[in-house]
Amino acid sequence: MTSLYFFPHCFLRFLQNQSILSSSCCMMKSFQRCALLVRTLSVFVFFIPVTISVPFILLHGIRDQCSNGGTISFTQLLSNLSSSPGSCLEIGNGEQDSVSMPLTQQARIACEKVKQMKELSQGYNIVAQSQGNLVARGLIEFCDNAPPVLNYVSLGGPHAGIANIPKCTSPVCQLLRTDVYSDYVQDHIAPSGYIKLPNEMSKYLEHSKYLPKLNNERPTERNSIYKERFTSLHNLVLVMFQGDKVVMPKESCWFGYYPDGATTPLLPPQQTKLYTEDWIGLKTLDAAGKVKFVSVPGEHLQMAHDDVVKHVVPYLQNHPSFFLNADSTKI
Ligand SMILES: *[C@@H]1O[C@H](CO)[C@@H](O)[C@H](O)[C@H]1NC(C)=O
Repeated sequence: MTSLYFFPHCFLRFLQNQSILSSSCCMMKSFQRCALLVRTLSVFVFFIPVTISVPFILLHGIRDQCSNGGTISFTQLLSNLSSSPGSCLEIGNGEQDSVSMPLTQQARIACEKVKQMKELSQGYNIVAQSQGNLVARGLIEFCDNAPPVLNYVSLGGPHAGIANIPKCTSPVCQLLRTDVYSDYVQDHIAPSGYIKLPNEMSKYLEHSKYLPKLNNERPTERNSIYKERFTSLHNLVLVMFQGDKVVMPKESCWFGYYPDGATTPLLPPQQTKLYTEDWIGLKTLDAAGKVKFVSVPGEHLQMAHDDVVKHVVPYLQNHPSFFLNADSTKI
């Protein structure tokens, strides 16, 4: 006996195929062979309700990597609590590339990797941390011929950009502060791809190489495919940390941001143009009840265990479905 696992939609298609098969069979000359085929299909196919394990991938943030203890245990914890298989997806060499590799390239690598992972081919869920969310959305929006992303849980993601570059002394940080929209910085420092200075909007729209594209911000370059793909999510969970001092403003984790050219007032997601003009489908998803705006106490990514259980795990858990058991050798 060979066991076949099907998703509900495949199951329906299978039933349809079976009836198509029956009707086209009637036109066939070899009635006997045909009758035998139909009977074999009906006799050896039966159903038992079970659950289907949808795998998840974790995309870590900047200056982190899959082999770090914290990332390993978080992946394991999510897997343990949800009973779903999951793994951390690494991009390049991890920590160093998370800082220096442009996000366009990071998303491209993630896309190629995901397509090679056979276990994801029926669809998968994503949990992403901080900058990893920009890779996650790149996967969802830009990746051609990829398996579908079903649920996407975003933890502290700077979705609408970051408005302040923290005061700092490292050379990387200095470059971000002085010349963020130059080609050199755009091509060598990952966070330059999502720094959106409200008083530099024209430079941002013209020279930023990642976020304007990801958010379909350029009026002449809006891509309906990105929107279509993002809108196909089953659930979008946007977790914001109340004490976040890394993502500024923290409301960016919900797609809230400042109006173009000003640093006040801070607009809630529903009042941004991205939402009202529905550039990427956030409004459509929200209208369908598929967006969860979650606010939790704690600093950036410091999520209490109970909040993980409440806001992350349910979206990784098995979906009740059917187990289709067919003797494929007879088919
Ligand atoms: C996950 O479960 C395994 C097996 O029961 C256990 O060894 C491991 O410590 C658990 N990890 C976490 C982070 O909960």
